[in-house]
Amino acid sequence: MAQWAHGYNVEVPYTLGYYKETSPIWVKWAVLIGGRKPPQDRNLRVLELGCGFGYNLCIHAACFPMMEFLGIDFNPAHVFHGNELARIGGLKNIRFEEGDFVELAKDWPSRYGQFHYVILHGVWTWIAKPVREAAVEILKKALLPGGIVYNSYNAMPGWMVGTLLRALLKNYQEVTGLPGIEAVRKGLDLAKRMADIPAPVFNVYPALKNRIEMASKHNLNYVVHEYLNDAHTVFWVHEVIEEMLEGKCYYAGSANLVENFLPGLLPDPLEKVVNEFSNMHFRLFLIDFMINQAFRRDIYQKGIVNPWPIEQLRELKSMAFIRLGNPGEEELVFSTTAGQIKGRKEIYEPILEELSTGIKTVGEIIENKKLKEQGIKLPGVIQYLTLLLEKGLIALYNETFNVPYAVNLSRAIARLATEGRPYNFLPAPVTGGGVNVPPVEMMILDALYDGQVSNMDMLVDKSLARLKNLGRTLMKDDKPIEDPAEERAYMGEIAQKFVAGRIPELKKLGVVI
Ligand SMILES: C[S@@+](CC[C@H](N)C(=O)[O-])C[C@H]1O[C@@H](n2cnc3c(N)ncnc32)[C@H](O)[C@@H]1O
Repeated sequence: MAQWAHGYNVEVPYTLGYYKETSPIWVKWAVLIGGRKPPQDRNLRVLELGCGFGYNLCIHAACFPMMEFLGIDFNPAHVFHGNELARIGGLKNIRFEEGDFVELAKDWPSRYGQFHYVILHGVWTWIAKPVREAAVEILKKALLPGGIVYNSYNAMPGWMVGTLLRALLKNYQEVTGLPGIEAVRKGLDLAKRMADIPAPVFNVYPALKNRIEMASKHNLNYVVHEYLNDAHTVFWVHEVIEEMLEGKCYYAGSANLVENFLPGLLPDPLEKVVNEFSNMHFRLFLIDFMINQAFRRDIYQKGIVNPWPIEQLRELKSMAFIRLGNPGEEELVFSTTAGQIKGRKEIYEPILEELSTGIKTVGEIIENKKLKEQGIKLPGVIQYLTLLLEKGLIALYNETFNVPYAVNLSRAIARLATEGRPYNFLPAPVTGGGVNVPPVEMMILDALYDGQVSNMDMLVDKSLARLKNLGRTLMKDDKPIEDPAEERAYMGEIAQKFVAGRIPELKKLGVVI
């Protein structure tokens, strides 16, 4: 392991992911419903520590042109990619710098300045204690008073079974001396053989088999980063709260938004157990214990900045929402970390009806006649808006968007996807988040952007040509379509659906013009 890595596995680069919970607007909602006052500036300065390839940060930079973004990572390949994507996508409000937390903690460059919002996504679990201490030191220097931190990590007790698989893979690599990718591939095979027998450990921990299957389906670079780091530590919530206190950062809520309504959403007897205790940290611990928490997305604030009551009402009421997808498709059941919650139709239907007539603020939604008749007040509306948001039926409305600015990045992403980059998300500036666009749709979108498509046949030919250029065959039901005529017909079906169904929705969200 290279000395500069402090035990972090740098054998292979990380993956290209998108994480909606890190969006500044999502985090603002989390801060507001947590009863804290978010930074008031619209021109937020956002810093991501350990930004990986920076794909996620570029998507948010495209959505929030008034904000300024800085991504820092010690892996030069990650930094190179981030800067390249920003340049090709015409982004002017983001840059990436190579830097190590340990070095930066000693001397935070004054040219970087201070930030309103710091993201640590998928970092805390994977770095050693001295490196975490360095990250806290950076927060002391780089986070503005009242600033917000997003910190996500593998959590107990849900990750307990994962530690068994980690022990196996890590030990396997150490004794075989295999490089990371090969070690996880062969190590997972070994684990599967033991599961099939089954070895007695699988009777005691039945979830271990599922964990092995899940890991086998992941991108292997991800598995190397997830399981083969020297420092890998799974935390209880109060342990991270303790570490963050050193940086004057206080727990303010969760970006797993529904968890902010716990224990209220738990079955009554469990809620009663939590309510026997008033210590906030112990309550959080108990809830995690009960729901078998596996991954936390904590929100912290530098200082405890409480809004005055009228101010809080004003801020909450001014947040606006937009309806997503096809009205009528919604289900009544919300899957949450606390289990399945059956939503009350009489509350969420009027909210969805209200939003089907256009973008509405919370202040407008609470005036809905049907909600008023039932006596549903602001807290009830906020809870239901949050459930609908988590379920993806609605989105927060970002009033600071600039569609042409974001479309520059969309066009670049679609183009680069036709060259084989595994990009799956495009910026949706109207909602301040990313939308999932699978590889085949990227081919179609790029063909449309090309502008020389006058009918559906041409679109199908051009999309298929892009796929063939990559040496790929169109898949149906997880199998490649061998017959060229059948493949073309299927591409026709996909393109038809995309143009008629998807493009209008993408236009509404500002993904395409
Ligand atoms: C698991 S990845 C998460 C990347 C990104 N935040 C994401 O979620 O896609 C952790 C990242 O932290 C970076 N990293 C680890 N230790 C670091 C250090 N001491 N200084 C700077 N970056 C570090 C790694 O290079 C890697 O990109």
